[in-house]
Amino acid sequence: MNRRVRKFLVMNGPNLNMLGVREPGIYGVQTLDDINRDIERLATELGVAVDFYQSNSEGQLIDRLQAAIKDCDGVILNAGAYTHYSIALRDAIASVPLPVIEVHLSNIHARESFRSTSVIAPVVAGQIAGLGAIGYELALRALCVR
Ligand code: DQA
Repeated sequence: MNRRVRKFLVMNGPNLNMLGVREPGIYGVQTLDDINRDIERLATELGVAVDFYQSNSEGQLIDRLQAAIKDCDGVILNAGAYTHYSIALRDAIASVPLPVIEVHLSNIHARESFRSTSVIAPVVAGQIAGLGAIGYELALRALCVR
């Protein structure tokens, strides 16, 4: 049987395009391209495919997430600040029949109190926070063994 290679979508929300420049003491010095390159390398090793998407706009993130139903097997999502208040993004995650893993570079539970609330946490498969860019790779490994 000709089973297609599993594909996962790695989505990043607002301001994550600024990695490398943005508050390096909190988010590290790697750019988003550097991080995505490492994820791509791991995906090759694991024998899966990955697609990358970044947007600063809530609607575009929701559109991309909905489109993932067609050809993706799971999603790794760093929703940036939308994590803390976007009910629209939460509803979109709840409405797609795909496992979504929430990733944060920083430990959102150890920062300002508004960051410790994630409105998407109840509808994701799991959350990885505070481990830096490795968090995306751990999420990919977790999706692969599901
Ligand atoms: C973040 C944490 C959020 O609170 C923040 O708004 C971000 C990045 C992280 O990766 O640590 O944009 O999601």
